[in-house]
Amino acid sequence: MGLPFLGETISYLKPYSATTLGQYMEQHIARYGKIYKSNLFGGPAIVSADAGLNRFILQNEGKLFECSYPRSIGGILGKWSMLVLVGDMHRDMRVISLNFLSHGRLRTHLLKEVEKHTLLVLSSWKQNSTFSAQDEAKKFTFNLMAKHIMSLDPGDLETEQLKKEYVTFMKGVVSAPLNFPGTAYWKALKVYIYIYACSRCTILNFIEGKMEERVKRMKEGNESLEEDDLLNWVLKHSNLSTEQILDLILSLLFAGHETSSVAIALAIYFLPSCPRAIQQLREEHVEIARAKKEAGEVELTWDDYKRMEFTHCVVNETLRLGNVVRFLHRKALKDVRYKGYDIPCGWKVLPHNNNNNGGRTTGTSCPTTTTTTTHNFMPFGGGSRLCAGSELAKLEMAVFIHHLILNFQWDLADHIDHPHAYPFVDFPKGLPITVQRRI
Ligand code: HEM
Repeated sequence: MGLPFLGETISYLKPYSATTLGQYMEQHIARYGKIYKSNLFGGPAIVSADAGLNRFILQNEGKLFECSYPRSIGGILGKWSMLVLVGDMHRDMRVISLNFLSHGRLRTHLLKEVEKHTLLVLSSWKQNSTFSAQDEAKKFTFNLMAKHIMSLDPGDLETEQLKKEYVTFMKGVVSAPLNFPGTAYWKALKVYIYIYACSRCTILNFIEGKMEERVKRMKEGNESLEEDDLLNWVLKHSNLSTEQILDLILSLLFAGHETSSVAIALAIYFLPSCPRAIQQLREEHVEIARAKKEAGEVELTWDDYKRMEFTHCVVNETLRLGNVVRFLHRKALKDVRYKGYDIPCGWKVLPHNNNNNGGRTTGTSCPTTTTTTTHNFMPFGGGSRLCAGSELAKLEMAVFIHHLILNFQWDLADHIDHPHAYPFVDFPKGLPITVQRRI
C-alpha cells in the first residue's frame, strides 16, 4: 500500500502517455483486477476501472457515495466551487450552471458565439506557418468563456491580462494533488504555490471589480444589452454572496476552458493518423457548406450542427481515446457491497475511466458510427453531477472541426509530442502543427 500517508499517490499520479492507462493502473489491473484497494490521497481507497461499478457510484451520489475532492482543490477553486460542493448548495449552483448552459441558450446564443470565436482564431493562422495547436485551442475556449461569463472581448487589454494570470493560476491547479506538507514535492512547489496564490487573488480581484461595475450600472439603469452573460444572470436572479459568485465564476472558467481545449487539441492530434476519417469529415462539411451557399446562408444553424453526424462520432472517439478527465474523487457514505466487493464507509472511491483501453491501437483508430454508443462511455461523468457543459463542449468541438476541415490541412510538426496525463491531459510541447490553407 506504499508509504505512510502518501501511500501510492506519487506512483498513481506519475505522468504517463494519455493514450494509455498508465503503468500504475495497467500493473494494478493486471495483478488485482479492475477493482482494487490502495492508499491514495492520504487514506485508504478503492480504485475502480470497472464501468459497471463506476456507473453505480455516480448514480448513487448523495446516497451511497459523495463527491470528495482533495482539500487542496477546494483551496484553489474556492470553497463554493461546484466541484467541491455537496447537497443543497451543490444543487443550487448546478441549477444556475445548467440554466446558463441550457439547450435553449446553446441554440440561440452559444452556437453563434462558438462559430465567431472559432473563425477569429482560425483567421489568424498564416499559410505554411507552424504554431502550438494547444495554445490556439486554449485561446479559443478561453475567449469563448470570458465572453459568455463576463462579456470580455478577445484581444482587449483586460482580457489578455486575465488570460496571462489564468495560465499561472493553472500551474497551481495542476500541481495541487501533490501538495502534501513536508514532502519534497511540497517544498519544490512552495514557490509555485506562492506565485499561484497571487494569481488567484489577482483573478478574483478582477472578477470582483467587474461585479462592482455591473452592480453600479444596474443601479444607474445603465445596463448594456450586450451583457447577457453569467455575471448579469447571477446578480439579477440569485441571492448568492460575493464570495459565492467569485468561486462560481472562477470554477466555470476553469471547467469550461481547460477540458474542451484539450479535447480540441486531441482531435487535431488524432486525425492525421486517420486519413479515412479526414476524408469522411471533409465530405460531410463540404456538403453542409455547399447546401448553405445554395440557400444563401452564412452562419451555421442548429440544423447544420445536427447534420454533422460523422463529426459527432469523431468527437466521441476523441473523448474515448483521449480520456480528458481520467478519474473522479468520491467517498463511500456507508458500507457498500457491490458484486462481491466490500467498500467500507469513509473510504475514498476513485472511479477511473477505462475507455481508451478498448482494444484498439490508439492513434490509428478511425471512428465509425457505431463506436462509443455503449453506456460504458462516460467522458462527462454521470448521475446528478454529470458535466453541466457537456453539450457546449461537443458543440465547440464540432464547430471547430467544421471550419478547420473546410479551410486547412495540417501536419503534426513534431512527431515526438504526445499527450500526457499529469493527470490533467496536456501536450508537453504544445502540439506544434504546420498548416496549409485549402484553396
Ligand atoms: C471535453 C470537455 C469536457 C469534459 C471531458 C468534461 C468532463 C467533466 C466531468 C467528468 C465532470 C464530472 C466531475 C465529477 O463528477 O466529479 C464535469 C463536471 C462539470 N463540468 Fe465538465 N467537462 C467538459 C467541458 C465542460 C464545459 C465546456 C463546461 C462549461 C462551462 C463544463 C462545466 C462543468 C461543470 C459546471 C461541472 C460540475 C457539475 C456538477 O458538479 O454538477 N465542462 N465535467
